Amino acid sequence: MKLKNLSDFVNKYKNQKNINIFLRCDLNITENDLSRISMSIPTINELLNCGFINKIIICTHLGRPKSREPELSLKNRVLKELEIKIKRKIKFIDYDSKLKFQDFYKSENKIFLLENIRFFDGELNNSESLSRSLSSMCDVFINDAFGASHRKHSSVYGISFLKDSYSGNLMSKELDALTQINSESNGRSALIIGGAKIEDKSGILINLLEKVDKVIIGGGMIANFLTMNLDSKLRKIFLDNRDKIYLPEDLLVSENFSEYSDKKTINSTNYDDSQIIVDIGKKSINSISKLLNDIKVVLWNGSMGVFEWEQCNMGTRSLINLLKEKNLKTYAGGGSTIEAINKFDHKSSFAHVSSGGGAFLELLEKGTLPGMENLVKNE
Ligand code: 3PG
Repeated sequence: MKLKNLSDFVNKYKNQKNINIFLRCDLNITENDLSRISMSIPTINELLNCGFINKIIICTHLGRPKSREPELSLKNRVLKELEIKIKRKIKFIDYDSKLKFQDFYKSENKIFLLENIRFFDGELNNSESLSRSLSSMCDVFINDAFGASHRKHSSVYGISFLKDSYSGNLMSKELDALTQINSESNGRSALIIGGAKIEDKSGILINLLEKVDKVIIGGGMIANFLTMNLDSKLRKIFLDNRDKIYLPEDLLVSENFSEYSDKKTINSTNYDDSQIIVDIGKKSINSISKLLNDIKVVLWNGSMGVFEWEQCNMGTRSLINLLKEKNLKTYAGGGSTIEAINKFDHKSSFAHVSSGGGAFLELLEKGTLPGMENLVKNE
């Protein structure tokens, strides 16, 4: 599959004037890591250098707001960090329940940032009225939000039905890298999947299980497997593939989700659900090391524990070292996974570090994403 890219866009529009662009990025940064902003800069800069472009409206989500939560406004950090990176002022388009976006039409500015798109009604359920309002701001839609392209949301998916649509540089790069994984993995492979929330990964786990030789579970979701708090399909798959799925045998647990609360290492068999899993233990790291001995390719998403806390970073840090020492061809992805890699390794030893988490796994599983559907090049 090939996507229409920025060269295709430039070739088509270079002799026109005053083209307005709606650029969807995934600037869903974590507290300590701005990688997703850095990864989006090449597309933004390339568009800024196009003389035939009049206005560029950048759009992203941040977090999963339930309402207009002030701490998830883009005004706080995203706007400032983006301005620093592109070295110019960006005009902010505030939340407007009527979706009139008046500021945008009046302003002389070239580049704009729309408030957190998840503050707007209709984004998550791909409402036609939101898709139409967004598309009314532009002539062309460019999707560089690889990390959000597994979502059928208005600003990623709905708008792509209404406008001439292209992929940005990051999107094209991610697709190239992940296509390479599928063509290359002619060795035994392992899926390492961690993080706190099983709901986000259950479907992907079920579907990728048969494509890999080993699955290693980490992070808070270990609790779901130990207590069998799994949806019926995953429970069945887990029981049917018990020998293929590795669950850590020792855990660092805490009574409260707090950096400074007392923590202790326990055997997984003694786990009860009043405890919070904050890391895996040393025995587990030894077992993972042995399991990885006959593996060539690793797909990794999600940390082994709360690596942001000094006391709980052993599992994630050691996993990164193992992947490096064993010289495994590792494809990693996801916001907090990138943060961990930047913290403990600086990306150097990884085959590919994807900006997407769920998107990265879903693309591996299905070979395409909803946000790519209308970007495909007909050759
Ligand atoms: C991510 O962090 O994986 C992307 O930004 C998508 O975010 P979401 O899982 O909240 O849709």
